[in-house]
Amino acid sequence: MPKKREIINQLEPYVPGKSKNEIAEKYGLNQDDIIKLGSNENPLGPSPMAIKAIEEEVKNINRYPESNLEELKEELAKYSGVNPNQVIIGGDGADEIIEVLGKTYIDKGSEFVVPLPTYMYYEFTVQNYEAKASYGIWNLEHNCLDVDSILAAINENTRLVFLCTPNNPTGGLISQEDIRKVLEYTDALVVVDEAYFEFSNTNNVNLLKEYDNLFILRTFSKVMGLAGMRIGYGLSNPEVIENMHRSKPVFSLTKLSYVAALATIKDKDYIKKSTEYSINEREYLFEEISKIPELKIYPSKSNYLLIDTHDSGIIASELANELLKKGVIVRDCTSFKGLDEFWIRISVATHKENEKFIGILKNILKDYKNE
Ligand SMILES: Cc1ncc(COP(=O)(O)O)c(C=O)c1O
Repeated sequence: MPKKREIINQLEPYVPGKSKNEIAEKYGLNQDDIIKLGSNENPLGPSPMAIKAIEEEVKNINRYPESNLEELKEELAKYSGVNPNQVIIGGDGADEIIEVLGKTYIDKGSEFVVPLPTYMYYEFTVQNYEAKASYGIWNLEHNCLDVDSILAAINENTRLVFLCTPNNPTGGLISQEDIRKVLEYTDALVVVDEAYFEFSNTNNVNLLKEYDNLFILRTFSKVMGLAGMRIGYGLSNPEVIENMHRSKPVFSLTKLSYVAALATIKDKDYIKKSTEYSINEREYLFEEISKIPELKIYPSKSNYLLIDTHDSGIIASELANELLKKGVIVRDCTSFKGLDEFWIRISVATHKENEKFIGILKNILKDYKNE
């Protein structure tokens, strides 16, 4: 066999949410009947403007995409309240931007800081550059960042600090006061992941004027309804953006993704409707699940909710499996570092699907009690 990099032996494969296709095949179900609550997508489908733009652009796919992505940068700058030279766009979603952050800021042996539990892809990606993870704590009792634990994890080798707000999978926000504390404590780049900021009615763009070590990460996969097109973006000061462009793949954003993103960002009604819809459904799910005594649900500022199943006695993998048999995909959180085997995360879906899910969930819990 060809000799590979030593680090590859130490890497664990990433465990993503399951697709409808996989589940339909495995359980002999009809794809259309499957309720997908596993990956925090937009349940309403993409913007009709995005579909139209893709249809019109299809005939041009024999040509390379643009590399400077001018118009999309301008639209994103307007949407976010920054200048176009403060924007970087990634073609494998926000995940590509995380990859580029690793390539740009990590030397072998340097360190990065993440609280636990949080989005696992930071560690999954950055460790590939032979950096060492140093962990802080996400306080589960109060669903907030333990900022002192982050400061304690930072040292002179720290290059990147990842803070996710709203935090995936817990749904809690990080206060701007705590973000400032981290920015002021270190020269390392502080990556504030706002993949879900639209659902929280807050953001941290104002801090970009004050701190040159802040990077804000965002995506078109959530409220923008384009998870399958793989578009992410980041906001920072022009120097950080310029440095990152030196290691970013040049043509990673396809022509179809480009036009879809441009059409969606201009479709303000779609963004507004999608945001409001998911917030309403999140509150509906929170209310309904709060009534189930053996489950503990966490209030969320995002489009997903974390559920603690300890009191029910059912481990997450078993509950997720029972739900799968009934055509409901949820995120078993066992693979999230910092959570034990009793946690699932559910995304909001359409109202009809959410109602159906609640019914199925209650039945599974009743059957489990009676066993
Ligand atoms: C917190 C967070 N950041 C980033 C991403 C990556 O998004 P994308 O689909 O743009 O790669 C996700 C995806 O689930 C996420 O939950």
